[in-house]
Amino acid sequence: MSKTVTVRDNDSGKSVELPVLVGSLGPGCIDIKQLPAALGNFTYDSGFAATAACKSAITYIDGNEGTLLYRGYPIDQLASSASFLEVAYLLLEGELPNKEQLAAFEYEVAHHTMVHESVRTFMDGFNYDSHPMAMMCGVVGSLSGFYHDALNMKDPKQRRLAAIRLIAKMPTVAAGCYRHSIGWPVTYPKNKLDYCSRLLNMMFSVPAESYEVDPVAARALNLLFILHADHEQNASTSTVRLVGSTGANPYACVSAGIAALWGPAHGGANEAVLKMLDEIGSVENVPKFIDRAKDKDDPFRLMGFGHRVYKNHDPRASIIREMCHEVLEKLGVEDPRLDLAMALEKIALEDEYFVKRKLYPNVDFYSGIIYKALGIPTNMFTVMFAIARTVGWVAHWLEQHVTEDARIGRPRQIYTGPTLRDYVPIDKR
Ligand code: CMC
Repeated sequence: MSKTVTVRDNDSGKSVELPVLVGSLGPGCIDIKQLPAALGNFTYDSGFAATAACKSAITYIDGNEGTLLYRGYPIDQLASSASFLEVAYLLLEGELPNKEQLAAFEYEVAHHTMVHESVRTFMDGFNYDSHPMAMMCGVVGSLSGFYHDALNMKDPKQRRLAAIRLIAKMPTVAAGCYRHSIGWPVTYPKNKLDYCSRLLNMMFSVPAESYEVDPVAARALNLLFILHADHEQNASTSTVRLVGSTGANPYACVSAGIAALWGPAHGGANEAVLKMLDEIGSVENVPKFIDRAKDKDDPFRLMGFGHRVYKNHDPRASIIREMCHEVLEKLGVEDPRLDLAMALEKIALEDEYFVKRKLYPNVDFYSGIIYKALGIPTNMFTVMFAIARTVGWVAHWLEQHVTEDARIGRPRQIYTGPTLRDYVPIDKR
């Protein structure tokens, strides 16, 4: 028998029986659709901490257990064995590809990497010191101007093509933004390289000499991208879905996702962690900053710590932590920030404030140190995250277009403004 929950309004005595929906994993969700009609109430849930906004078959998280599954596969298994495009195929199509399917997918992505030359000219319009995330919001949004008329959103083939184009063009746009900021000419995508090597080549090769992608760097990027590829209904993915629910163009949806990702509470945290480590400077200063993070009158927070969903550990952080030591060693990079990060982590994990609130290092605590070791400048960290998360964004965008009960996203509110009053002419105010 299916479970129900009865909600009773103690003032009117009216009650309503609400069905509890169950997915394939995870807790049940009370379907509150009937509530306004039955009791005249809405529900209030600031920050959507207890609200499911959609049904999705892409990613599953159990925050208490520290579990993350992409289409049922544990993140650690994918991170240790798969390529980023293999994971992208999995997230988009629902199943792991066989050899032929993966080769065809890689070919398809590689053959959509170029952007219209006018996109390059558009990039030139940005000031040389524009933040690359600002450029990304604008440039990715501008792609809708190139492909809007050619997109029939009712055609699944065309929707899929838009998704492939976005995955393929993000590294080209990202590298273009970076090179604009340092005044280098763009490097066009090389199709024979794999996804991550192609990005590194577009970022770092110069016309004056030959450039070989370091396989250690490409592998590290591959792993980071897998860990960042999707994370169910996080702020940026929810933004993409909300914009997508209006029927907006997918490039505009992803541009909105990039804007949401930029904030330091979300994807901007990796950049903020590096800045914080530089500000702390040395291990002796750690206690002072821990005290500041605990002080409610101080806006300072320990960046890279805490997570809305993970209340045990962030499984991505454990993988990254291990990889961080390995990559730095293999690349022969000595970064005192790694020692500082470890000291900070140790002290915070023993501190009652952090233990009580279940605040653990998240995925972004160590990712910045690896990006730095790969030669990626701090202001490009969140751009890297955006490239990887584009796969999740487009997977969710595709899914929402085939969801039966999909509707335009339109939350309600608790109105706290003035009650009804009459207009007062300006000379009487
Ligand atoms: N440093 C100090 N105190 C913290 C921190 C922190 N990083 N994070 C949470 N708290 C405290 C917070 O002040 C609150 O204390 P109290 O109960 O006394 O009021 C308690 O812990 C619960 O925090 P919250 O703000 O209600 O939690 P939230 O779920 O709304 O926010 C978060 C989650 C990730 C935004 C927050 O932990 C944070 O700002 N962390 C730092 C930024 C960060 O690393 N973000 C990356 C998230 S992972 C990657 C991604 O998703 O993009």
